[in-house]
Amino acid sequence: MRSSGIDDGIGAVAPPFRVEAFDRVDSTSSVARALAEDGAAHGTVVWAGEQTAGRGRLSRQWSSPPGNLYLSIVLRPVVAAPRVAELGFLCALAVAETAEAFLPGGPSARLKWPNDVLLDGAKIAGILLEGQFSAQLLAFVIAGIGINVASSPASPAYPTTSLRALGSGDIEPGAVLTILLARLSSWLEVWKANAFPPVRTAWMERAARLGETITIRVGNQPNEGVFDGIDDTGALLLRTADGTRKITAGEVAFGQAATAASAT
Ligand code: BTN
Repeated sequence: MRSSGIDDGIGAVAPPFRVEAFDRVDSTSSVARALAEDGAAHGTVVWAGEQTAGRGRLSRQWSSPPGNLYLSIVLRPVVAAPRVAELGFLCALAVAETAEAFLPGGPSARLKWPNDVLLDGAKIAGILLEGQFSAQLLAFVIAGIGINVASSPASPAYPTTSLRALGSGDIEPGAVLTILLARLSSWLEVWKANAFPPVRTAWMERAARLGETITIRVGNQPNEGVFDGIDDTGALLLRTADGTRKITAGEVAFGQAATAASAT
């Protein structure tokens, strides 16, 4: 049902975005996909107060109680299909900047490949990119973003946190949405004008565990090496005794925590 109740706190929305607000949906990404299939424009945002079937990467569930931010954006970028993964990195940058805006003097947001956002070493947001292709051509991308604002549902796979747990006080998800869309608008402009290099540079400046030894599981195979950042396509660079490997999908582990990851 389209909402009348959750849009508290939302301010002026940056272009190219237009927000459709719902009280409760199964998944904002499913709703956005259906709208995109019906021709919804680039920049259409589906925002819900809660989700009954929120989903994360690798078919994981994304627990979605009221109080956190859940949105999915219809994007119709004019780029070759292999460049879709770049959108995840710029979404992560926008989320990182948004989280910091609500925690003045707080910790810097770090990014975990490919596009998890961490604060104080715990996951505060997740991003799920889903592309729709037609005859090898990209029809649209749905960028689903979940940010823990009021609470941090526990995950067996990684530690979690929320803006409130880090001292933001009570914030309306709509206020977080407004800042996020402004930051995303700005990063989309940068990307349109300059392609991936500035996004890659900014992402590397925030990369968690850069230069440290990490383990990345590709299929069932754990691979250990030094994390040397990302290449000009977003692939993870893992330096091992046998040379540097470029990894496009896998599950990164930092110590005990592991998150599902795929750059494609
Ligand atoms: C991850 O596994 O880290 C990605 C989580 C993505 C969750 C968001 S919440 C809004 C959108 N709707 C969904 O069902 N999933 C994404």
